[in-house]
Amino acid sequence: MQTILITWWLGYIGSHAAVVFANAGYDVVIVDNLSNSEIGVLEKINELVAKPVSFYKCDLRDKIELSKIFETHSIDAVIHFAGFKAVGESCEKPFLYYDNNVLGSIVLYELMVHYGVKNLVFSSSCVVYDSMHVDPPYTESTPLKTINPYASTKLMIEIMLQDLTMHLGFRVIALRYFNPIGAHPSGKIGESPRWVPGNLLPYIYWVLLGKYTYLSVRWNDYATPDGTCIRDYLHVMDLAEAHLCAFQSLKSLGTEKSNNAGSFDVINLGTGRGTSVMEMIQLTEKVTWKKLPYQICPRRPGDATSVYANPDKATTALWWKSTRSVEDAIRDGWNFIQSL
Ligand code: WQD
Repeated sequence: MQTILITWWLGYIGSHAAVVFANAGYDVVIVDNLSNSEIGVLEKINELVAKPVSFYKCDLRDKIELSKIFETHSIDAVIHFAGFKAVGESCEKPFLYYDNNVLGSIVLYELMVHYGVKNLVFSSSCVVYDSMHVDPPYTESTPLKTINPYASTKLMIEIMLQDLTMHLGFRVIALRYFNPIGAHPSGKIGESPRWVPGNLLPYIYWVLLGKYTYLSVRWNDYATPDGTCIRDYLHVMDLAEAHLCAFQSLKSLGTEKSNNAGSFDVINLGTGRGTSVMEMIQLTEKVTWKKLPYQICPRRPGDATSVYANPDKATTALWWKSTRSVEDAIRDGWNFIQSL
């Protein structure tokens, strides 16, 4: 049985992927410093899997503690979530992002080299594409340009991984996510922001719950059919399943520590369909049977007009395709939020 080390795994996407990997029969070892997640999520994950996952509270930058985990478990592959992910926060605190995301990755990859672990699935993002100058849909060869420190950390790590592939035989798939939303259909795990949510759907839920009086729609004069921005919203369970497909694809290249043939690939994870902010409001009202109050407010700095994927490569390279609708995601997310 293969052992998978999963970093930052008690957070939103990580917790869903942990369930998918454990239920596929892998031994799952989770490392998380709990800076952005709750330990209670571990109990929920274990309620959803047949075989409990192992958990270590450890910061990736703590080389000594992290190396103890590599000593204890014979790790075959790593699924790496780079940590913090709020665009706005990264502009205010860039060094927090360089330190946490980039330095954490450096320490992890150094230890992977030391312990001969070469297979890695890295969570990257559509934020690396030049959305200010290039129209969607975005393929993996769309020109890149980062406009905030969060996006830059993703690109820095991708570049680092290309070096490790060329010179140290790493086998890597970097998955570029579009906009993950929703929750596990059980309602046990999902996204529960600790602070005011920055992303659209979590904020919509807080309005529906009465924590805020209205949703601020960040302007309606964009060059889209209804004037509001368009994004590619992807169910988090589809996203989690894509990680398993990516790992299985890497596994077919071999997991032997003596195999020095490196490979690096980037793959978009999206649906290929764009949904505007106004359409999200309408779909939420339809799914929840609730009226969503909103006001048109000034633009959010740095917002791209329209961002959606060309997801064809994921189908050909990973045999993966999203299967759940935006309505499914809104419903599952709403069930989770109501259960809190
Ligand atoms: C969507 C739309 C807002 C809040 C996120 C992540 C980023 C990356 C991609 C993976 C925009 C509008 C929002 C609100 C609004 N994912 N909006 N009122 O900006 O695409 O970025 O997904 O790496 O990490 O941050 O998504 O959900 O913040 O915004 O009108 O209160 O909703 O202007 O057009 P975004 P979002």
